Amino acid sequence: MSKQDPKKLFIKTYGCQMNVYDSERMAEVLGEKGYVSTDTPDDADMILLNTCHIREKAAEKIYSELGRFKGLKAAKPDLKIGVAGCVAQAEGQEIMRRQPMVDLVVGPQSYHRLPQMEEQVAKGRKALDTDFPEEDKFEHMKARPKAQRGPTAFLTVQEGCDKFCAFCVVPYTRGAEVSRPADRILTEARDLVDRGVREITLLGQNVNAYHGAGPTGEVTLADLIWQLNDIDGLQRIRFTTSHPNDMDDALIDAHGTCDKLMPYLHLPVQSGSDRILKAMNRKHTAEEYINLIDRIRGARPDILLSGDFIVGFPGETDQDFEDTMALVEAVKYGQAYSFKYSTRPGTPAAERAQIDPDVANDRLQRLQALLKDQQRDIQNQMVGREVAVLFEKAGRLPGQLIGKSEYLHAVHVHAPADMQGQIARVQITESSSNSLAGTLLQTVAA
Ligand code: 5AD
Ligand code: SF4
Repeated sequence: MSKQDPKKLFIKTYGCQMNVYDSERMAEVLGEKGYVSTDTPDDADMILLNTCHIREKAAEKIYSELGRFKGLKAAKPDLKIGVAGCVAQAEGQEIMRRQPMVDLVVGPQSYHRLPQMEEQVAKGRKALDTDFPEEDKFEHMKARPKAQRGPTAFLTVQEGCDKFCAFCVVPYTRGAEVSRPADRILTEARDLVDRGVREITLLGQNVNAYHGAGPTGEVTLADLIWQLNDIDGLQRIRFTTSHPNDMDDALIDAHGTCDKLMPYLHLPVQSGSDRILKAMNRKHTAEEYINLIDRIRGARPDILLSGDFIVGFPGETDQDFEDTMALVEAVKYGQAYSFKYSTRPGTPAAERAQIDPDVANDRLQRLQALLKDQQRDIQNQMVGREVAVLFEKAGRLPGQLIGKSEYLHAVHVHAPADMQGQIARVQITESSSNSLAGTLLQTVAA
């Protein structure tokens, strides 16, 4: 490599969309240090794993992934290897002990300190930062670069969580709930729109608990959505992930009245059993959740609902599981994520008696079969309907584009390549396992 060549950065992202956003921001921060992104670890000068600690499997994957980089490090001793994200936060120094080839460990609240950490590792030292600093990392990161980008973007508005569900590591890895000031978010959103973004997904571990500082007082998520609604050129707004107890009236109303807010809502319930919900510290009942769904559907009848479920939580009986199945039957989800309970050290539920893993496996299979049926039914019901598709990229077939409908279904359409980044009316003609196909009707003006 000649002196002028930029250094190459390979980031591998695990876990949630907040990590996707953080990886983009880390790449930008390291851009200041002369790094450009590469999509393979083979020619990288720095490899960063942006990790997830939510379930045991996700965390263990990191150690096996690191093992795979041994050969690369042996061939290129200058290669720097870093671990970021929630495993970094939870396991810190332990990572360097288990994998001595790791040069850098950075927790999710410290990414703005990456330039200094990079200088340290460039000198052959190790760097570790898993503080929860007073300063807000986003406010200490430079403005985002001005390069043109794709039509959809994530924007983190809130981090951390104060809910302390008994199974969850987030309050420990991401810390207490913090909301970014509204004006920063609006500036970042306008900037994204100037660079070609048409759809913004507001992110937060508990996004509907957002309560950022505004010029005349506190701003809620509904307020923020209405302010984003006024940005010309921004056509779609989404948000994730929400807690049922933070779905306030204004936010429910916005689903019926704000044209740019898309009819899709990810609203995890985790279980349909009141006993388990209580043991999980969810602070609501199954009936309250179902009533909430009724109100949301009252505001926006065609909304597509998505959820998260955990089976095999300590103490879950057959009846508790049947209650979860009954809740799913009652709600009808268009999309869902379901998991076997995974013990997370340091969380309250980790101390409790675990249930038989075979029983948990059987339950997971039954629940997933039901959720899959519902997902397929709702997708099939789209056939014959007209939807609006925001084209994101070229499809696999020549002349084909792929985009997302309002309901977040992937839709394949034959359309001119220059329609990427535009929204068009599409008639749905086909539903296959994971996507829809349709024919182009007309373009909708931006
Ligand atoms: N075990 C299994 N699933 C979990 N989740 C969070 N913690 C655990 C755990 N310990 C799931 C929840 C949450 C989603 C992001 O991950 O369903 O909503
Ligand atoms: Fe974890 Fe979500 Fe519960 Fe917060 S609300 S503790 S992030 S599951």
